[in-house]
Amino acid sequence: MARLSSSFVVLLASAILSNVPSTAALDNGVGRLPFLGYNTWNAYHCEINETVIRSTAENMVKLGLKDVGYEYINIDDCYAAKNRSDDGNIVANATRFPSGMRNLTDFVHDLGFKAGIYSDSGWFTCQLFPGSFQNEARDARLFQVEWGFDLLKYDNCAVPFDEVIKEGIVGKYSRMAQAIADLAAETGKPPLLFSLCEWGREEPWLWARRFGQSWRTTEDIDSSWKALANLINRNSFITWASDFSGHNDMDILEVGNGNLTVDEAKSHFTAWALMRSPLLIGTDLSVISDEMLAVLKNEEIIAINQDPVEGTAITPFRWGFNPDWTFDPAHPAQFWSGQSQNGTVFMLLNVLDEPADMHFNLTESPWIRAGRQYSVRDLWTHTDNGTAIRDFTAQAVPPHGVVALLMTDAGDEPEGTQPPCQRPEWCMDQNGTRIDNINFPGF
Ligand code: GAL
Repeated sequence: MARLSSSFVVLLASAILSNVPSTAALDNGVGRLPFLGYNTWNAYHCEINETVIRSTAENMVKLGLKDVGYEYINIDDCYAAKNRSDDGNIVANATRFPSGMRNLTDFVHDLGFKAGIYSDSGWFTCQLFPGSFQNEARDARLFQVEWGFDLLKYDNCAVPFDEVIKEGIVGKYSRMAQAIADLAAETGKPPLLFSLCEWGREEPWLWARRFGQSWRTTEDIDSSWKALANLINRNSFITWASDFSGHNDMDILEVGNGNLTVDEAKSHFTAWALMRSPLLIGTDLSVISDEMLAVLKNEEIIAINQDPVEGTAITPFRWGFNPDWTFDPAHPAQFWSGQSQNGTVFMLLNVLDEPADMHFNLTESPWIRAGRQYSVRDLWTHTDNGTAIRDFTAQAVPPHGVVALLMTDAGDEPEGTQPPCQRPEWCMDQNGTRIDNINFPGF
């Protein structure tokens, strides 16, 4: 990673964290692309220790996950002792982390990873370990300078009483953002990547990009299709918020956990990746099945998530099961598309409990050009599936399953392809003849 000059960082810190309202992304040298890695919470909750983290990091290498781009090893809640030290610092739990945090981050860095840590914007973390409220500068320094972490996940529990805090959510999160920027300005090092976790309660997609590189959009995930469908539905309405340096965080992956079928795991991974969420593995890697590992290692899907040229997320172009714009936690939108450097990406999601054929006209997607044909790449079977002219049907998509396609412009469609317009609405010959019979009031 390029070193930032300290004057540049000072400038950034003052520009970004001034009181001037801004919706610009915080382009501070870290987190331009969604971050990939591991987080301890979904697999271990509070049952973490240095052995678990070391062996997880080793497994990330051994299983080839590092090779396909997973970069961060993140420790979630429960690493700390119940109380701060006499001189006011957070202390690592001596039983769980007897070798100390610096030792652990050295180990993680030596394997070629970056390391992430967790804290909370209130008095305590969600499991009631010390939070960072009123200790922001001290804790940022401890995490980055003393302990050697590169990323901070920042939670939203134990909010101080109104008479104490006298700030809303934006003010509350600005405190640690300021501490991180100040520290970077002082050290001249890249700032901690700041991953906000306030569960989408106060619309972080509207303000969090000023402070950090990602923001959780929802309540916690669990390893059921019901939870995945709910999260996809919620995120389908705010896909516009993800772009370079600022990403909707759809939560830690459940691939490998619970009773998710392989088809459900593929849908999960595809939706998270193509909606440009950070991708954090959250399963016990010592027992992961080959099938689930293959899901996490789909390099064609990861390449879309990590596209350095096009940063935007896929968005629904048709809800399918429901009328467009329907909010339905059990049946999210089914037909999605978006841009990538290599063409238009499609995601077809079968939200039904039975197999379904899924059909769409290409120009339903705004990124497709009329009158052109497209070569079709299937990002799960890893095959080139011929050329699509005008429309496409995916046959027998399994229950809760997914199809992910990359369509690349393959030139003009064959001459004489009829009808003259795929989209008949208001389509007209130069001589004034309309091809549709739709009667528009007022025209
Ligand atoms: C929740 C958060 C989870 C996990 C947990 C730890 O608030 O959403 O991802 O960090 O706290 O207590």
